Amino acid sequence: PVTVYPDMLTASKVVAGRIAAIIKKKATEGKEAVLGLATGATPIVVYKELVRLHTEEGLSFKNVVTFNLDEYYPMAATAAQSYKVFMNKHLFSHVDIEPQNINIPDGELAQEDVAAFCLEYERKISEYGGLDLQILGIGRTGHIGFNEPGSAPNSGTRLVSLDELTRHDAAHDFGGKANVPAKAITMGIGTIFKAREIILMAWNEKKAGIVKKAVEGEVSAEIPATYLQLSENVEFVLDTDAASLLT
Ligand code: F6R
Repeated sequence: PVTVYPDMLTASKVVAGRIAAIIKKKATEGKEAVLGLATGATPIVVYKELVRLHTEEGLSFKNVVTFNLDEYYPMAATAAQSYKVFMNKHLFSHVDIEPQNINIPDGELAQEDVAAFCLEYERKISEYGGLDLQILGIGRTGHIGFNEPGSAPNSGTRLVSLDELTRHDAAHDFGGKANVPAKAITMGIGTIFKAREIILMAWNEKKAGIVKKAVEGEVSAEIPATYLQLSENVEFVLDTDAASLLT
């Protein structure tokens, strides 16, 4: 289903509320909430609201286990553009999550260790019983995670090459496109599909064109987000601008 909210703030609060509900339900069952998280501009207000729920309303992250979608490769963990730094800044350093429950692909691995790391990432997600919820943004190439055009529907966590448009869009953060890493480690389409719930968020008119293709276009590897049309557990959460080209 597609749900359209008047603005990003309202939509982000709804998504944060759904995440909080999963965390609380799992806590009452004495279980872990296993969350798949995204970086980038899209989920920032969701994280802000989760931090508010923690500080003002006592939402605890003690039973939360997280798996981030992706990380640039190569990427120093302490670099300003690393997704580790991003997640600490926007969420983890402000809540009571146990550091050992945080999982983010490692951008510092030696090339020969990447394949084993990716298999282990998949194994670890399965060991926790799979993801309760995966949140996603969408890139202008139609990528989810860093599954760029050409990605297979059954793909797992792996090293990928970033699309030129994706590197162009990241150029600002890196002080020029030449500084944007050529590769990334990303969960696969298959990994994402195994989540019990998937929420794809998109805000503003810059995403309207790709959102239309993702939601209404023919399912194809050319726009990996179209694969989501095949899942029964997906919700597209949009603001009016991102939804403006939908029929
Ligand atoms: C980030 C990720 C990417 C972004 C996408 C949109 O972890 O996996 O797929 O969600 O590139 O980025 P923003 O939100 O910056 O527009």
